[in-house]
Amino acid sequence: MRLSRREFVESAVAAGIAAALPAGLFSACSVSSNARANPALQPKVQFDASSRIEFPKNFFWGTSTAAYQIEGAWRADGKGESIWDRFAHTSGKIKNGDSADVACDCYHRWREDIALMRAMNLNSYRFSVSWPRVQPSGSGPANSKGVDYYSRLVDALLEARIRPFVTLYHWDLPQVLEDAGGWPNRDTASRFADYVELMARSLGDRVSDWMLFNEPLAFTYQGYLDGTHAPGRNSVLDFLRASHTVNLAQGAGFRALKALQSSARVGSAFSMSACEPATTSEQDKRAAERAHAITNLWFLEPALKGRYPEALAFLPEAAMGIKSDDVDKMRAPLDFIGINLYYRTIASAPRATERLAHLQEWLLPVKMAPGGQGPKTDNRWEVWPQALYDMVTRISRDFNRPQLEITESGCAYNDGPGADGVIHDARRIEYHRQYLQALAHAIADGADVRGYHAWSLLDNFEWAEGFSQRFGLAYVDFKTQQRTIKDSGRWYAKVAAENRLV
Ligand code: FCB
Repeated sequence: MRLSRREFVESAVAAGIAAALPAGLFSACSVSSNARANPALQPKVQFDASSRIEFPKNFFWGTSTAAYQIEGAWRADGKGESIWDRFAHTSGKIKNGDSADVACDCYHRWREDIALMRAMNLNSYRFSVSWPRVQPSGSGPANSKGVDYYSRLVDALLEARIRPFVTLYHWDLPQVLEDAGGWPNRDTASRFADYVELMARSLGDRVSDWMLFNEPLAFTYQGYLDGTHAPGRNSVLDFLRASHTVNLAQGAGFRALKALQSSARVGSAFSMSACEPATTSEQDKRAAERAHAITNLWFLEPALKGRYPEALAFLPEAAMGIKSDDVDKMRAPLDFIGINLYYRTIASAPRATERLAHLQEWLLPVKMAPGGQGPKTDNRWEVWPQALYDMVTRISRDFNRPQLEITESGCAYNDGPGADGVIHDARRIEYHRQYLQALAHAIADGADVRGYHAWSLLDNFEWAEGFSQRFGLAYVDFKTQQRTIKDSGRWYAKVAAENRLV
């Protein structure tokens, strides 16, 4: 699930009020009417489908999932409650009243899932560990049955020659920690580091590739500011404080892992979106840079450069709880940068008069909207492969050619079985083909990309959207739990086997 950027400003106003900050700390803004439309909003690079597109040797072909979205078994074998269990069990929070109590039942069916991956010739599986499954109360002793589940999964993946690519936090905080203040509570960073240590001790002898966080901007923003995700709070102050705790946790978690396993490859998976100016005006170009900073760098620059990007006009240090030596604590020289990318963002500036008139526009003077030219997926996201090329090449350039992994990209198309029982999801094949062409182009232009992980292996529980959006390469019948590889899964299997686009 991604930021609903269109609503960012509106909800920030409401949240600002809820947090008793000056009313309208953020507010809506509009584009200058005489600026020219930006010609660059058309795709710049034509990706040639006819040429033979190969990927680097030893490229990782994978899929991504997240514990809460697939595992089910929400209180089996001593698992603790997570903020997502609590949120989904609260009426009105999830579309159609769905919850992931059972989801894809992967806690019991993981052998079948590995068989699916083998049938797709994959050599990498990105999955997440549910913190409350392995440490039910967010601190103290491990739940050995929970740890055993991941241990068995890792062993079976290695046996199948599939790299276990492990995300430590994909949004399911133990509810006990939320009750103690959640991510806005600075102490949660230490709890996270202890949990990371626990996992490194349990799996570090077999897992060498880790992600500390999945999409920190998404879970801090939607969880604490607009309230559409767990734990459902509405406060700009909580969002700012949660941001800072997560940045501290990223540093502390990185050090905890490296202390136990110095050879580990440690990164995070960031939600990214190429931010383009709406018009050719200088103001919109600057707005696009601010949009880039908040969207793509808010959790990356603290790790790699020990500072916050200049997204906000000023950094509310006291409100965020920033202390003088936090610069060093936030630092985490990540071994790779994980990029989750689905679409682009169009940015524009508020008018000068509006900025003068509204204090709130000093803090984040930018308006963000989705692109409107490309075809739309079934959940109305724009298909825009150029965004992947732009983002990968920009991060490569700005961070001195780091190792990159595409940790997620994919599309919601709700095609089900036809009369022949087969799922003919041609639009999903086209999506991945085009995004992979764009990626190959970025690699040819010098980016060091190690792998691509399609979101997702299976249709699953899409957060507040419940089961209404299908992203899988394999179809799941949620009544019988039967899995069927879609046409896209068969196509992806060929791509992976031949290490080139087919
Ligand atoms: C990403 C999330 C992932 C999934 C996809 C569709 O933002 O990381 O869990 O929901 O969106």
